[in-house]
Amino acid sequence: MIKSLREYIKEAEEKKVAIGHFNISNLEALHGIYNAAKKLNVPIIIGLSEGEEGFIGKEEAVALIHAVRERDNYPIFLNADHHYNFEKVKEALDAGYDSAIVDAVQLPFEENIILTKKCVKYAKSLNKDVLIEAELGFIGTSSKLLDKIPDGVGEETMTKVEDAVYFVKETEIDLLAPSVGNVHGMVKGGNPKLDINRIKKIKQVCDVPLVLHGGSGISDDDFREAIKAGISIIHINTEIRVAYKEALEKYLKDNPNEVAPYKILQPAVDAIEKVVEARLKLFNNL
Ligand code: G3H
Ligand code: ZN
Repeated sequence: MIKSLREYIKEAEEKKVAIGHFNISNLEALHGIYNAAKKLNVPIIIGLSEGEEGFIGKEEAVALIHAVRERDNYPIFLNADHHYNFEKVKEALDAGYDSAIVDAVQLPFEENIILTKKCVKYAKSLNKDVLIEAELGFIGTSSKLLDKIPDGVGEETMTKVEDAVYFVKETEIDLLAPSVGNVHGMVKGGNPKLDINRIKKIKQVCDVPLVLHGGSGISDDDFREAIKAGISIIHINTEIRVAYKEALEKYLKDNPNEVAPYKILQPAVDAIEKVVEARLKLFNNL
């Protein structure tokens, strides 16, 4: 019998490991990610941003994840990643997602609190143990290859410890995603180093599990330190997108006459599996 997502996160906190959260835009990515997870037998979270959700379809995504979960009795969960307003969060939870991230970092602090509180209240009213995550501090917006660190990301936009305490207490969120030197996307010259001390301090004073966004491009050492410092979930997207695109490009170039999608797309599935397996081994200390 699989446990709830909340319980798997609690377990990760206790074991000082992190659950991998991987974004998908299509079925191939789901196959690649799931193959890797099953091989290692670890829980995973599949994430859909508003854009990814628009492409796959909310109900389709829920049906897929539920079908796999029930068929294999496997801890695979679905998260509404970076949803920007109450209606979008509500729609995702109504459709059957296990959790949602209300991303209101572009709003003034107090408005972020008001919107987040509204989402938490709605999630609680459903009486089915769905989780709400919120973000504090800016880390950029896109899962893509970046020429430089995104504008507006720096020391001054990192999460302040006192803000985090106040925010968590006021909103009663289940999970907090802080800005601790992480950025969305992969910076061509290398991603910045994480502020491990800041993670430690936030974890010491906030009584919620912490989520690290912008995992692509972070060094293995930084990941290990971040998990030790108190990170319980890690998001990866750009690395999956790059693996998919490169494998697809190579196959099409090498096989110009092939037209069967299941043949064309298999190397992309395999490439995603490889990326995810390496990340899951690291996150789960395997
Ligand atoms: O929510 C999605 C993630 O934070 C992905 O970030 O594209 O840098 O891996 P990434
Ligand atoms: Zn993110």
